Amino acid sequence: MKVLVATEKPFAKIAIDGIEEELDGVDYEMVLLERYTDKKQLLEAVADADAMIVRSDIIDEEVINSAKNLKIIVRAGAGYDNIDLEAATKKGICVMNTPGQNSNAVAELVFGLLIYGMRTFYQGSSAGRELKGKRLGIHAYGNVGKCVAQIAKGFGMHILAYDTMSRSEVINADGIDPTISVKTLYRYSDIVSIHGPLTNETRNLIGKDLLKYLPKKAVLVNTARKEVVNEPELLQYMIDNPDFKYLSDIKPDMHEEFVEKVGDRYFSTLKKMGAQTAEANVNAGIAA
Ligand code: 3PG
Repeated sequence: MKVLVATEKPFAKIAIDGIEEELDGVDYEMVLLERYTDKKQLLEAVADADAMIVRSDIIDEEVINSAKNLKIIVRAGAGYDNIDLEAATKKGICVMNTPGQNSNAVAELVFGLLIYGMRTFYQGSSAGRELKGKRLGIHAYGNVGKCVAQIAKGFGMHILAYDTMSRSEVINADGIDPTISVKTLYRYSDIVSIHGPLTNETRNLIGKDLLKYLPKKAVLVNTARKEVVNEPELLQYMIDNPDFKYLSDIKPDMHEEFVEKVGDRYFSTLKKMGAQTAEANVNAGIAA
């Protein structure tokens, strides 16, 4: 049985060693395709694979159709919006993910971004602000949202959360205040951190109609997906609200325009870093 580990953004070596060890025990052969630059390389590698482990790699209909023996695709991570589920289902291929395995890594990065952004990007200015006492709104209370809430408690923040799936009792039980609507979350948060999946319902969800509820000097942190933000509307909002900051772990399509027009209040990592820790790679890789 051939298990293809196809990662354009590679796992840490310690994770690869761990996956290899797991597969060795059950006599599967692991084939690595890392840092590929051309889709053709992926199409060739998957042609005779029985199973495939991927990260944010785009697994579309063409990739699925070139796999003659494929039975299972595992997304070593939480979001599976990169996999064409319909095409996989048509071919009877099972798709799985590993939710929770990289949540802490993503949650810790939220605070890395926040401190960097709120301390004026370490430019030596005294205009920095602290997290203590600020109201943190967690937009979607899943595995990552929960980790963010736990860390925020240590900073002495007041935490609010909104989720379409988690019931208020579940949020309350963690000592977090649930809000009745997403608008209420934005209205009463100094900082909003986004943690929902990309779906047809969430695509472009965060635009002018939500941003208008934010108070003065608000900060929006995105470690989820770029597509949940309506970029032209966010850029316009930032131009109209010169005390607002956007901190992102997913480079927007309009990155250059953000840098040019609101660069003093905008930061994005160039490659998604949330799950790029040895610990998260080992957890997600082994689980996959
Ligand atoms: C996820 O959905 O698990 C995270 O966005 C991490 O994605 P990555 O594996 O591409 O870093």
